[in-house]
Formats: sequence, structure tokens, C-alpha cells
Amino acid sequence: MKALLSIFRCAVLAVAVSLVLTGSRPPQAGTQDFHVEYGPWVTDMSEQAFTVLWSTDEVCQGWVQLDNGRRIYEDYAGRKLFGTLHTVRVEGLSRGTEYGYRIGNRVVDPANPRRPAYGQEVLSERYAVTTFDPNRKKCRFSVMNDVHMRLDHYAALLDDIRISDNDFLLLNGDIISAGNWTVDSLLKYEVGPLGPWGANLPVVFSRGNHEGRGSGVALVEKVFPKAASAPYYYTFREGPAAFIVLDAGETGVKNALALTGDRIYEAYLREQMEWAKAVMKEPFFRNAPVKICILHAPMIDPGLPDDFVPHTWMNHHFLPLLNKAGVDLMIGADLHEYQYHPAGTMNNDFPILVNDDQSRLEVRVRSGHIYVTVYDEAGNVTVPTRDIPVTRKKHTIR
Ligand SMILES: [Fe+2]
Repeated sequence: MKALLSIFRCAVLAVAVSLVLTGSRPPQAGTQDFHVEYGPWVTDMSEQAFTVLWSTDEVCQGWVQLDNGRRIYEDYAGRKLFGTLHTVRVEGLSRGTEYGYRIGNRVVDPANPRRPAYGQEVLSERYAVTTFDPNRKKCRFSVMNDVHMRLDHYAALLDDIRISDNDFLLLNGDIISAGNWTVDSLLKYEVGPLGPWGANLPVVFSRGNHEGRGSGVALVEKVFPKAASAPYYYTFREGPAAFIVLDAGETGVKNALALTGDRIYEAYLREQMEWAKAVMKEPFFRNAPVKICILHAPMIDPGLPDDFVPHTWMNHHFLPLLNKAGVDLMIGADLHEYQYHPAGTMNNDFPILVNDDQSRLEVRVRSGHIYVTVYDEAGNVTVPTRDIPVTRKKHTIR
């Protein structure tokens, strides 16, 4: 009997794997076959919710099915949606809990709007993600940035990330280079290589200056949607660490002038300052043992002229606010070289660490320390683990 059961389990598994590989069962008459093209990937993780996305090459109805059988359909104003990019917000969850899920699809022929024709329901293999939890003792994540469309490099950096050793993956901007992007081409370069890492590890996205260029600028939000009103600046909490993610917009003065008519995104940055001032007073941030600021363009003042004005502007205007909020570390990108600016070197009460365009950071936060190690794409340590002690600072924002 045991042998029979085992054969049955193998057969079920084989069918499931083949469904994932082929993307579908034979379609019903009047409908077409389909494939899952990209994903799933998970983003906008919180303590009670997360968002799952994937794309299909044919119009499908999509849903997420949790281990307990609960189905969450992609819907709009009470109607189940048909489309090729699928976005499902899963809500009502518990903090610090692993949720197994599958994505479901059935191909739709919408030619008859009153009575569309459906193919068979197809479920993917099982994936699992864990919701954030402020009570967790530690927080662990990996960071990559300035990939600039190098798909092999992207995949190589991912390759060494052990999913079970990380709470999330931070993409800190410029995953693409400037272009007039469509959703399809964005998917290829922003999330194409993610594979099991995107399906089982929440992705935190911080916009780079290149993601702010071109006619497809508003489409990036479709790949990394946020339930919050502003897609590129937000906060979240995981374990002892509170995170504030910011968006400098364009970093080149000439580009900024061409795109907006201003040398920097000053109005947008001032909007973020107002928001940051309020949000950093809230208990979840104010009382967090560790506070980390993430943004693509680091708030450094290198004393250089025009091309670096946004960095300098933020160093002069935004950084003092972060000092007052007791931020412990800023993680930046954009410069395509590794830099570490200790506290007190450029108006900063906390270190500013800049990752280059070749490496992955592994960040570990626990009991009064932030440990940061730099790895190359072969998995070699290129900058030994830096121990950044966290000291309880006074919050002086009024
Ligand atoms: Fe870049």
C-alpha cells in the first residue's frame, strides 16, 4: 500500500511539474493554450499582507490559492479581471507566519463580453513566503543595485542567496537602464531572472534614476506595486529594524532639466521630507531598536559640481532630518563604486554605505549590531564583514 501511495504521489508531482513547465493543461474548445512567462514574484510584504504578481502570454483569469484553500482573485470593483499581467493582494494575514501559495490561471477568450469562454483551471507548484514580524530578534536581507540590464550578472548574484537565510531581497534601483519601456520589456529586465528567489522571498524595490527615465516611467509601478499611496517612498518594519525607503528621482542635472525643467526633483523631495518628518515620529519607527534608510542616490556631499547636485542637495536638506530621527545606517547605490562614509564625515550622524554595480550586500541586523558583507557574483567576499554598532540615539524631531 505504501509503495502504491508513493507511486501515486510521484505521479501527482510529475503532473504538477509538467503543468508548471508547460504552463497549462489542454485547453477547452474555443480557448487557447497559455504559458506563465514571468513570475510569480512577491512584493509589498507587510505584517498582514503581500502582493503576488506574474504574467501570462495569453489573456487569463488569475488567482492566488493559499495552503488552506482560500482563493484570492484578481478583481476590480467586484469583477474578476482578465489580463496578462496579474496582481493579487493577499490580505488578512498574521505576522511572522509562513504562507504557502500557488498561482492559478485559466485562459479566457473574452470575445463575447456577456459570456466569455474559459479554459481549464491550472495551478502552479507551491511557493512559500513569510510575513514580516517586528518581534523577530533579527533581520536579514540581501541587496543588489545598478544591474543595468545585465541578466547574467543578475542571475549570478541571486545564485548565492540562500532563501532560508533572508527575510527579503532589496533591489536598490537601476535594474534597467534608461529606455522607453513597455510592461513586457520591464518584466524581462526587472524581474525576469528572479525565479524561485522572487517567488519565495519578498522583493523590496527602491527606484533608481534610470527607472525614472523614458516614456514608460509610470509602468515601473505596475511591476512593483505598492498598496501605499506613494509607490517609491514608504516604510516597513522587519524584526528590530524600521526601514524608510526614499526616492531621489533624477540624479543628473542636465537630465533633470530636460525631464522636469528643474535641476533636481526639489518639490518631490520636499514632499518626501514632509512625509518622512511625520512618519518617523510614529511609534513603529521611533521605537524601533534599529533604523535604516534606503535610497538609490546616497545623500553624500562629495564637493563636486553640477552632476552630483541632487546628492549634495539631499545632504544639506534631507540628511539633518534623518540625523534627528536617529537613523543608524543609510544604504545607497548609484555611484557604481563601493564607498563607506563613517558617521561624522559629511554632516552625517550615521554611516553611509554605497554598494557598487558588481556586488551583493548581505545585511544582518541583530542585538545592537548591523553586519554588512560584500560578495561578488562568484560568491567571494570582497569586503570583509563590517560591524556597525547601533547605539540608542535620541529622537529630536518636533
Ligand atoms: Fe546606475
